[in-house]
Amino acid sequence: MKLKENGMSDKDKKQDTNISRRSFIKGVGTGTVAATVAPAILVSDEKTAEAQTDQAISKAEIQLNINDTLYEIEVEARTTLLTVLRDGTDTGGNNVDLTGAKLICDRGECGGCTVLVDGKAVYACMMLAMDAQGKQITTVEGIANGDNLHPIQEAFIKHDAMMCGFCTPGFIVSSVALLNENRKPTLTEIKEGLSGNTCRCGTYPFIFDAVETASEKM
Ligand code: FES
Ligand code: FES
Repeated sequence: MKLKENGMSDKDKKQDTNISRRSFIKGVGTGTVAATVAPAILVSDEKTAEAQTDQAISKAEIQLNINDTLYEIEVEARTTLLTVLRDGTDTGGNNVDLTGAKLICDRGECGGCTVLVDGKAVYACMMLAMDAQGKQITTVEGIANGDNLHPIQEAFIKHDAMMCGFCTPGFIVSSVALLNENRKPTLTEIKEGLSGNTCRCGTYPFIFDAVETASEKM
């Protein structure tokens, strides 16, 4: 029997090659099965994760008093007051649709989302809707008395205290909060009172003038 360099005969080598092929094909077969099964396991895992997430994101029905109207709304624990105001839907399927409060930074830095909560200026993007239960929420849409504008709104118009206007609702609400606490603020107090609001157009001098004018009429 002729042995090759590795000590195997031609017959042995052929058998070894066949075994190797069988092993290879078997291995590939196993791999194919694994490749077929693996996505199913992944899908199963995803569904389990989704189910767990659904359980974690439990919803609750709450009542919110916004601009003297009572809304029954289903919210998640993580839902902010701003989300309810702008995108919320009550349990009757009606959109809340109070878009005066603006979503700008969504992190408590710009003041564009300012609303009154029990008369105090609050960033609606930083308050959970659930925490607003039992409180009086007033948005810029609720500042006027019917067709009669609030003195601060009239003063903003008089002093042309806006350019793009994106920050204006927040400034108006913060000004109302300031004047509710201090009817005759000094310029320094006005600047301090509105320091939580940002105007990228730089209309600050006109806004401060408007607050001074409004304070004289209140
Ligand atoms: S959007 Fe709320 S503070 Fe900027
Ligand atoms: S008027 Fe444009 S950001 Fe204030």
